[in-house]
Amino acid sequence: MKVLVIGSGGREHAMAWKIAQSSKVQMVYVAPGNGGTALDQRLQNVAITDINQLADFAQDEKIGLTVVGPEAPLAAGVVNVFRARGLRVFGPTKEAAQLESSKAFSKDFMQRHGIPTALYQTFSDAALAHAHLEKVGAPIVVKADGLAAGKGVVVATTLAEAHEAVDWMLLDNKLGVQHVAGADGAAVPRVVIEEFLDGEEASFIVLADGKNVSVLATSQDHKRLLDGDAGPNTGGMGAYSPAPVVTPNVHAKAMQEIILPTLAGMAKDGIPYTGFLYAGLMIDSHGNPRTLEFNCRMGDPETQPIFMRLKSDLLEVLIHAADGTLDQIELQWDRRVALGVVVAAAGYPLDPKKGDVITGLPAEAEDAMVFHAGTTLGKDGKVLTSGGRVLCVTALGDSVRMAQQRAYEYMNGIHFDGMQARRDIGWRAIKAR
Ligand code: AMP
Ligand code: GLY
Repeated sequence: MKVLVIGSGGREHAMAWKIAQSSKVQMVYVAPGNGGTALDQRLQNVAITDINQLADFAQDEKIGLTVVGPEAPLAAGVVNVFRARGLRVFGPTKEAAQLESSKAFSKDFMQRHGIPTALYQTFSDAALAHAHLEKVGAPIVVKADGLAAGKGVVVATTLAEAHEAVDWMLLDNKLGVQHVAGADGAAVPRVVIEEFLDGEEASFIVLADGKNVSVLATSQDHKRLLDGDAGPNTGGMGAYSPAPVVTPNVHAKAMQEIILPTLAGMAKDGIPYTGFLYAGLMIDSHGNPRTLEFNCRMGDPETQPIFMRLKSDLLEVLIHAADGTLDQIELQWDRRVALGVVVAAAGYPLDPKKGDVITGLPAEAEDAMVFHAGTTLGKDGKVLTSGGRVLCVTALGDSVRMAQQRAYEYMNGIHFDGMQARRDIGWRAIKAR
């Protein structure tokens, strides 16, 4: 079977890499792909990003399955377009993707269906937002409503920070957030101001086929730029799987109180959910998970360690997921821990530097792999940086510490100008032991 993976990040490299291991696969196309997918003999990049052109390509090439990596094409309706043309695709429709693309939609949804999350209020008027902040005080969380690639969130420890965040989100839109239509139909800047939740985060990702659900291995991301979880929020600086904070008890609660009611609620609201569903959990000291956010896709960089541990044939799994027969399979996992360290460009997250030559990339090993994200393959065969998060160096080990050691050792020879990487990925799990 020919497969099409849409996207260009580390997540899509990991998906395509894993799908290519299937005995059923004839060719894996990645649109548009990156330097890493260009280098891999089993993958082929296709320089298309327009949704209708992607559907044309899938039709012309007789693609048997298309999988969508990032949120932007999902929010733009790629699944709707593919389905309307009778093409097999795995992902949520545009309507279902609102769980991620509109914070206001997802918060209203959670409130309506009794899904545990932080208290919140939505504002488009800056004066009202400022007045609300004065009333509730800090710490407080201010979020831009719309797609901001994980960067439109300010966890403000002081009121001054919160006021500043409201101003730049509502008035300046420095991050270039894509605004989405609200209840009034207008796509204007909006902020969600929400209660600060204390606890430890984990990523809880499932596959939903409209009727059944399969749970992926748990993971934990590291959202802050710097060691010790300091510095600004990023798309994610590293992740490992499994996450010990998700004990069997937390796992059961996450399913019963969050995932299953969400899928049932979407079906009840007439927007059945298909695709990856990612619940970002905040787990309090009593082991109660609350939903920080939903993503309508897999996490990046969580996908890299998760798929490194997946022993099942991913193509087979995704076909079942697209066909509504997930009840016929069971996922098999490597018992080892996988840990991925993101190597980011100088200036990330605000203004990443591009065009630097990357040297010292190691060859794939049984227990380690460099997934590419913001890279391109130059005509001379050199690999160049082309985005904020450049690589995710991922390794397996018998413990978090051993996977961490292996990942950093494997990363050792890699170099480009101004590269940034945290040195402490996995620290919470190591400390917990
Ligand atoms: P989000 O994109 O909504 O997941 O937010 C990005 C990050 O901001 C999360 O991973 C958390 O680390 C932090 N965050 C978001 N909302 C809250 C909250 N209500 N309380 C505490 N931290 C939060
Ligand atoms: N790593 C967090 C995300 O993909 O949203």
